Amino acid sequence: MTDPILSVRDLSIAYKTGRKESVTAVSGIDLDLYEGQSLALVGESGCGKTTLGLGLLRLLPGLGEITSGSLTYRLKDGSKADLLKMKQEQLRRFRWAEAAMVFQGAMNAFNPVIKIRDHFADTLKDHSDGKKKWTKAAVDARAGELLETVRLDPDRVLQSYPHELSGGMKQRALIALAIALDPQVLVLDEPTTALDLLTQRSIVQQLHELRKKFGFTMVFITHDLGLAAELADRVATMYAGRIIETGSARDIFYEPKHPYTAGLINAVMPVKGARPQLESIPGYPPSLKAMPSGCAFHPRCAFATDACKRERIDLDLLAERPLGMSHTAACLHHDQVRFERKCDDTSADRPASTVASGVRSTVASDAGSTVEGDARSTVESETADV
Ligand SMILES: Nc1ncnc2c1ncn2[C@@H]1O[C@H](COP(=O)(O)OP(=O)(O)OP(=O)(O)O)[C@@H](O)[C@H]1O
Ligand code: SF4
Ligand SMILES: [Mg+2]
Repeated sequence: MTDPILSVRDLSIAYKTGRKESVTAVSGIDLDLYEGQSLALVGESGCGKTTLGLGLLRLLPGLGEITSGSLTYRLKDGSKADLLKMKQEQLRRFRWAEAAMVFQGAMNAFNPVIKIRDHFADTLKDHSDGKKKWTKAAVDARAGELLETVRLDPDRVLQSYPHELSGGMKQRALIALAIALDPQVLVLDEPTTALDLLTQRSIVQQLHELRKKFGFTMVFITHDLGLAAELADRVATMYAGRIIETGSARDIFYEPKHPYTAGLINAVMPVKGARPQLESIPGYPPSLKAMPSGCAFHPRCAFATDACKRERIDLDLLAERPLGMSHTAACLHHDQVRFERKCDDTSADRPASTVASGVRSTVASDAGSTVEGDARSTVESETADV
């Protein structure tokens, strides 16, 4: 289908910070996500990635509120649903069955006093459409199938409490739980953070396999550009609550046009080729309570001019491509941004070798196809997350 599975228009999210005060954590997000795509949201800590991810499923905590915009999903039956108009009962059915989230901090995401089996039972019973009867045997069969898919032993894991599992096992069990009702959209918030390199590697491979098997659309949130380079078809860079550049993974990693995106990539080591001098971005992200005028990046930007300080800069279309893959950047001087880093294999669409990460991957054979791909990897010794 050529209409998006998720359409976000002018979405803004604020957190209440006092009786009458609030801060805007996410502002003016426009996004179309198409079936089967994988979108990475990248950016420094505090730029609003988790807030946006939670907002996409209306899972914001009590103090968070969507203050403007629209969120439209195409449901499994083909109908369109305005998520902001859904009542609690509709939302309960929507979550997990249509769109699910793997929360940041897998270590604490399970209820510690409930066995893994009961997490599956509760999710399947509470969020399904009621057509299927989730007997004990049906729960065990579904949970067992999913756990096997993420290479966990169902006999052991289903009887375990969360604290009896390792971090990697918990993360895999969480992913299995999130796809229990076969959602169309899966949002993963930092799916490999806090895991050792080999476990990260294994989670990434399983995400490739799960997408191949179940075909879900994926939004994954990460500050790890290596992971984004490997798993994403599209990348959106966030800064100070806004998307400031978006495009195909190839556009973003080979030809970033926003100085902030280029700065993020320059701050990590390439896997292949000569090792350049790493450059960090000077300064710090702004406080939500004291946002700089005009382009919020201007205090840290080598290209800034007076005009950058005056006006808000919106995303500009740089290269038009179908299915939401257009390259856009919110920078007055994007034509001056030259990105020098080159990958050895310039024919590859998947630029995993442009940047390194904790996962340290090079993709040798699956250029351009994440759903079909079978990632090949090399695990090296250095870690260079942003
Ligand atoms: N409950 C809250 N109340 C007030 N402000 C909040 C709350 N949660 C988040 N924020 C603020 O919203 C902004 C965005 O936070 P968010 O957690 O979305 O960032 P992030 O990009 O996911 O960061 P990280 O990479 O560290 O997870 C931050 O400035 C944060 O301080
Ligand atoms: S608009 Fe100006 S300050 Fe902002 S990123 Fe572009 S050049 Fe830098
Ligand atoms: Mg976060």
